[in-house]
Amino acid sequence: MEFHVITLFPELFAAASWPGMVGRALKADLIKIQAHDLREHGLGSYRQVDDTPYGGGSGMVLRPEPLFAAIEVVNQTRPGLWRILLTPQGEPLDQALVRELSGRRPGLLLIAGRYEGIDDRVSTAVDQEISIGDYVLSGGELAAMVVIEAVARLVPGVLGNPESLAEESFADGMLEYPQYTRPEEFRGMRVPEILLSGDHRKIQEWRKTEALTRTARRRPELIRRGRP
Ligand code: 6GU
Repeated sequence: MEFHVITLFPELFAAASWPGMVGRALKADLIKIQAHDLREHGLGSYRQVDDTPYGGGSGMVLRPEPLFAAIEVVNQTRPGLWRILLTPQGEPLDQALVRELSGRRPGLLLIAGRYEGIDDRVSTAVDQEISIGDYVLSGGELAAMVVIEAVARLVPGVLGNPESLAEESFADGMLEYPQYTRPEEFRGMRVPEILLSGDHRKIQEWRKTEALTRTARRRPELIRRGRP
């Protein structure tokens, strides 16, 4: 699966710097990450990509021409990518959407904006607008990395143990049960006795209950919403 990113900071997506699972997936050629420099499509000798907003107001807005040009060039060299504009006004990213995106072939074209905004006409050049949460980032680059990290681990072969996919948080729309490893006692805190019992049926029941009560206490809206 391929991840293409249109950005003013292509160096942020250099393959060598990806840690962990994504880094291994890159080396194993299971995924590919390619950055495209928006500045190359800037206007005039200053390669301008932004301008002041019509109607007044503070800050700068990304002009449509460089973004359209960049999207068209990527689309010509690699047709069929699912085009995503990263913006706080987009559809909220959750595990259900991550799962959907992991099925898009040949891959995703992620468009990371900067400045205070993006000319609204750019929305006509993309398939989907996505936000990674209700807070403000100065650019879409970290959001693009979040999408890549979350989607790449669902690409077949990337995760070492596919069983852990089914067990993890949000797989069934709930938070994960508490986990413990050695030692049995740490600073007076004991690992729940049931986990040492070897009774796998009882352990499974306990985990289910813990996941449910945890979700109810910390994220009640996940239970009301039901399965993603
Ligand atoms: Cl996708 N972009 C920016 N700039 N800020 C965000 C975001 C995206 N998602 C949440 N905040």
